[in-house]
Order: sequence, then structure tokens, then C-alpha cells
Amino acid sequence: MKEKIEKILAEVKSFHADSKEALEQFRIQYLSKKGTITELFTEFKQVAPEMRKEMGMRLNELKNTIQDIIDEQQKQFETTNEAKTDLDLTLPVDAMKGSRHPLSIVRSEIEDIFKRLGFVVAEGPEVEDDYHVFAALNFPPDHPARDMQDTFFISKEPSENKPTDVLLRTHTSSVQVRAMETNKMPIRIIAPGRVFRNEAISARAHCIFHQIEGLYIDKNVSFADLKQTLYHFVQEYFGEGTKVRFRPSYFPFTETSAEMDISCNICGGTGCNICKHTGWVEIMGCGICDPNILKASNIDPEEYTGYAFGMGVERIAMLKYQINDLRMFFENDLRFLEQFENA
Ligand code: DAH
Repeated sequence: MKEKIEKILAEVKSFHADSKEALEQFRIQYLSKKGTITELFTEFKQVAPEMRKEMGMRLNELKNTIQDIIDEQQKQFETTNEAKTDLDLTLPVDAMKGSRHPLSIVRSEIEDIFKRLGFVVAEGPEVEDDYHVFAALNFPPDHPARDMQDTFFISKEPSENKPTDVLLRTHTSSVQVRAMETNKMPIRIIAPGRVFRNEAISARAHCIFHQIEGLYIDKNVSFADLKQTLYHFVQEYFGEGTKVRFRPSYFPFTETSAEMDISCNICGGTGCNICKHTGWVEIMGCGICDPNILKASNIDPEEYTGYAFGMGVERIAMLKYQINDLRMFFENDLRFLEQFENA
């Protein structure tokens, strides 16, 4: 038996597995229930009593050596396998590539400014119903104002669990309605998100884009509060000294309604292509909430007033980074995206 053990020991010591499968085969051959070691232990029962101690030790040693060989060679396979993938978890963090999308950068910068003023971020669904996108915002059925926004309809058939038309939201103003439904006063939210319009794609328009909506409802909220808040935002985002102006406008859900322009941040107001030589660029719509929309959400317009505003994230990003084609944001061209690595 001694010779047998010695022979096997020499055999296993010279073994080198060239694959995981070969190693497993090796394990089965020696250590499985029907393997060589089990056989030897059976033989061991016949060993003369005076030899038992020595043989037992040798046998156990052989068994342990085989296990060690397996463990050792197993490790090698694990490390070579890892090295084959591109993922190296030991690399320092700055060696990792990647950058945030410019729209995501702009969105969080804008969010941060309003958060410091006490606004909280609110969300709503992208697949909406007519009520939240139009009806509750004072767009009566067949009102021409609905044509201001070309809508993607998903279903026009009212059904049991979809009480009214299902559509993709055309603006984040729908989140205003969802916030008002909670009826917890005061309301001070900003709602960033994706919106959808059935428009031909060009340098100036896209069928998917992003907006940030703002809504503040409380006692005694006035147009002066709106102006001051937006003025503050512009100074923070576009820099001290940026001028603002408000032009009268029309939105069904605000009365008074306005459009806000800022002095062109490219030419400083002297006139360039971006501002079409006017010195001004439009950045958002805003106004005082129409009493009808407060009533639609069971808020008493005698007690509460509010203001709202809405801006396009792409538009702000285009001004900030001087990008002249909206399609750049959606094409995932690395030459474009890599420019924001340190932004
Ligand atoms: N929802 C408008 C749009 O998509 C933007 C807007 C204008 C939002 C005025 C407002 C607002 O909250 O008061 O064109």
C-alpha cells in the first residue's frame, strides 16, 4: 500500500490542468465517492494493526495534497477568467470614462437653484390623460389653444379604467394639476421631465424634449413674487447683470400670462445670430394661475393665488453651451458628449 500511495503522490504532483473541466475530471478521479482515495480507504481496513498509524497518516496526507492541488489550480483559473473581461475593479476611480449628458447637467443645475428657494421636485406620468394635460388646465374641448401643442394620442376611446383620452403629455404643466390634487397648501414645486409633441424633427424642434415646470400657490402670491423669483434664477444661472423683460402672452392656464426674455448671453445684448440681432432671447412662459384651474382642483381662488412658469431644458442648454442644433442632444455622438466630461 505504501508504494501505491507514493506512486499516486508522484502522479498527482506532476498534474497540471489546462482547463477547468480537466481539473474537475481530476477531482472526480481522486476525490469523488468512487474515486481513488475512497478505494484506498477501503483497502486500508485490511492493513495490519501495527502499520495502521503510519498508513493512516500517509493516506490523509495524500488526500490533503490532492485537495491543495485542486484549490491552487482553481485559483489560477479564476484569475485568468477575470482578466479576460474588461472590468477591472481595482482601477482608480478617475480612470473610469464617461460623462453626464448635458441635459442632465442643466436640469440638475436648474433644480438646485429652485431647491435653494424652497421648491421641491415633483413628478408625474409621461403617459397622461386629457384631463391632466388639457381639461384641468382650462383648455376646453375643441378650444383652439389645444392646437398650440400637437399631441400624440394613444387612445381616444374612453374605457372603464381609462376614463378619458390617453395621450403622451405635451408639457409638464400636467404635474401642476397632480400637485394641486394633493390639496396640501402651500404648494411650491418644480417638475422636470420629458414631453412629447407630434412635430417634424429639425434643428429647432423635436418630437421629444424636456421641460421644467414651476408652481407656487399660497396666500397672497403676486406677479411681483413671480418676477423676483425668475429674476433671481436668471442672475444665478446666466450670471449677475443679465437683464430680463416680460412680454404679454397667452396661456389658457394663466391670467395674466407673460413670456420672459433675457438679454442675449452670447453677444451681451448688442445683437448676434442667436438673438436674431434683437439682443434678447426668450427662455420661458409664465403667469398668474387662472382662477379656473384652482377651482378645477378644489382650491378656493378667493383664499389662494399662485404663479406658474415653464421652460424648455434644451433651450436653456443651447444658450448655455452655444449649441445651435437641437438634434445634437439625441444623437449620442461621442464627439459631442465627450465635451461635457468635466462639466
Ligand atoms: N406649458 C407651456 C408650454 O409647454 C409652458 C408654460 C407657460 C408653463 C406658462 C407654465 C406657464 O406654467 O405659466 O408651452
